[in-house]
Amino acid sequence: LASIEVDVSAVEVGQSITVTWRGKPVFIRQRTEKEIAEAAAVPLSDLPDQFARNSNLEDGADASDANRAADGKEAWLVMVGVCTHLGCVPLGQKNGDNKGEFGGWFCPCHGSHYDTAGRIRKGPAPENMLVPPYKFSADDTVVIG
Ligand code: FES
Repeated sequence: LASIEVDVSAVEVGQSITVTWRGKPVFIRQRTEKEIAEAAAVPLSDLPDQFARNSNLEDGADASDANRAADGKEAWLVMVGVCTHLGCVPLGQKNGDNKGEFGGWFCPCHGSHYDTAGRIRKGPAPENMLVPPYKFSADDTVVIG
């Protein structure tokens, strides 16, 4: 129950899957080069939430793209798919979804826009989407929790 193992071998570049961990959706995405580059190019000063919100890093780590992505695997983003405003599940997991103004995820409940690193960029949500404790136990396997 505490941790789950997810086979991500079928998740191609530009695709996402949603798994359930502790009753919550967890978004796993293999980002495109463009998505990584866009997120990495954002000055930290442009971010409403300056913190990584990454359970695998020290509290207070900054919200750089590297601090949001998987350790040593910058294409991969793993985060709890819950809007930090009032807890709706943002859109953006499916190609064709409304991904908001920053190309990541969009919460339709009250209009929060998240970027391609899952960081809040516009709207009422106060924090970046939470990165849960996880690691790649093998190239194609993510252990969450
Ligand atoms: Fe997402 Fe309010 S719950 S914007």
